[in-house]
Amino acid sequence: MADELILDVQGVKKAFDGLEVLKGIGFGLRKGETKVLIGPSGSGKSTLLRCINYLTVPDAGRIYLNGEEVLDANIDSMRARMGFVFQDFNLFSHLTVLDNVRICQVKVNGVDREAATRRAHHELERVGLGDKAAAYPAELSGGQQQRVSIARALAMDPDLLLFDEPTSALDPELTGEVVRVMQQLAAEGMTMVVVTHEMSFARQAADEIIFMEKGHIVEQGTPDAMFTASEHARTRAFLNVIAEHG
Ligand SMILES: Nc1ncnc2c1ncn2[C@@H]1O[C@H](COP(=O)(O)OP(=O)(O)OP(=O)(O)O)[C@@H](O)[C@H]1O
Ligand SMILES: [Mg+2]
Repeated sequence: MADELILDVQGVKKAFDGLEVLKGIGFGLRKGETKVLIGPSGSGKSTLLRCINYLTVPDAGRIYLNGEEVLDANIDSMRARMGFVFQDFNLFSHLTVLDNVRICQVKVNGVDREAATRRAHHELERVGLGDKAAAYPAELSGGQQQRVSIARALAMDPDLLLFDEPTSALDPELTGEVVRVMQQLAAEGMTMVVVTHEMSFARQAADEIIFMEKGHIVEQGTPDAMFTASEHARTRAFLNVIAEHG
């Protein structure tokens, strides 16, 4: 059904050395929705994304992908259905761009090499890098490397894409090309959770913005509601700081 939740996060808690970093977080995402997660440094955004795919194991709470609970026992197959795009790209430096986009399809999803190659070329075209298949990551700009990382995630045919500050390691002139690819994906109906300070993306592409602080969701709403009529002084103050400093 179209209104079923692709991702359902319920009561997720996580502490490190007695410090409670996530204090019971819940939210859901329907197919095709983009949610943007914002909040001050240390509020738990990365920890939450990492808990969603068990890179960090939550202390409490439940996470469902397409109605199926994410558990230790099924984590490999669940992870294959959730693409994760990191701030620092995480490409294999000794592999070409083509191999970077092909390898997980073959090794994790068991796709045959020829089909994986076709898919890799298709996804590289989609992110505007059709001519870079033979290059190595070090020969590319940061923005191009991040687009390879997005192509790699797309090639796995994920149900959900998670982005953790995908443009914060980039020079400002390179963020636009990555943001445009993400906007295009949102418009095409990809289901995405995006941690970002790019408020132009949030305004244009988010169905909902979630503001986190100190391990809680303080407020959530449509971009219009959050930017123009936030009830919460903390959210307003945060958005003002971002507007000033990017
Ligand atoms: N593996 C870890 N071990 C110990 N503490 C951790 C670990 N990971 C995160 N933390 C702590 O958890 C808190 C939340 O960190 P997290 O990285 O989730 O915040 P964030 O909202 O992503 O911040 P930023 O905007 O700076 O990326 C911080 O106090 C951080 O120091
Ligand atoms: Mg973070």
